[in-house]
Amino acid sequence: MSTKDLLNQDKMPKHIAIIMDGNGRWAKQQGKLRTFGHASGVTAVKDVTEGAAELGVEVLTLYAFSTENWNRPKFEIDALMSLLVQTISKETETLMKNNIRLATIGDTNSLPSGVKEKLEKAIAKTAGNSRMTLVLALSYSSRWEITKAVREIANEVKEGKIDVDAINENTISSHLTTSEWPDPELMIRTSGETRISNYLLWQLAYAELYFTTKLWPDFRKEDLYEAIYNYQNRERRFGMISEQVK
Ligand code: FPP
Repeated sequence: MSTKDLLNQDKMPKHIAIIMDGNGRWAKQQGKLRTFGHASGVTAVKDVTEGAAELGVEVLTLYAFSTENWNRPKFEIDALMSLLVQTISKETETLMKNNIRLATIGDTNSLPSGVKEKLEKAIAKTAGNSRMTLVLALSYSSRWEITKAVREIANEVKEGKIDVDAINENTISSHLTTSEWPDPELMIRTSGETRISNYLLWQLAYAELYFTTKLWPDFRKEDLYEAIYNYQNRERRFGMISEQVK
């Protein structure tokens, strides 16, 4: 029996965010280069995307490249960028067939122009798809995003478009790059690390965090089901007491 059969469709998270971690360690275990780990991580991306769409998840956000990842050796950055281009070229048709929209968050202007163009084309082509949105966080970090939002809001105040006293949580949420989607209810990180690493800091305020020691290239649909099962059996109190949420 699959854990999938135990899942409660009425308690399915609308938005799942994942930190795909452990590609390098996975490759090292096999005596291979780190880049082999990234390439193998694409299989996991495909399987988990398919699994999430089948379950009716509305948004799946994957941390594919952080602002901090620019500090990696050039060889590895180049390999990740070409993997991204290849995967988009190969998989845009799969996204179309499965009615999945592609979107990105992050400072995509800092990506190499070839990568940016490929992404923009795929985003435009899949724009009308409605079953699920696959969001790739690319050159993304939460502090970058929050800083950008603060700057935009300050400018709107300066131009007299909004009043300082009118700034509330919605003002901030609506200036984040994720403004069109609900906040993730579940965040999964693979590889045994138990950090958030500058990922969706504002949006994860009430998310359930799920950590697994599985390395990303080994992560499959069945692992996603287990994470969701674990999430569905937690009590989410949002600051209230147990009796209030029952
Ligand atoms: C973390 O593992 C993973 C990344 C920095 C990149 C993730 C990229 C992919 C899975 C492939 C491309 C993705 C798409 C969407 C086409 P790590 O390198 O930090 O591993 P380590 O912690 O073991 O060193």
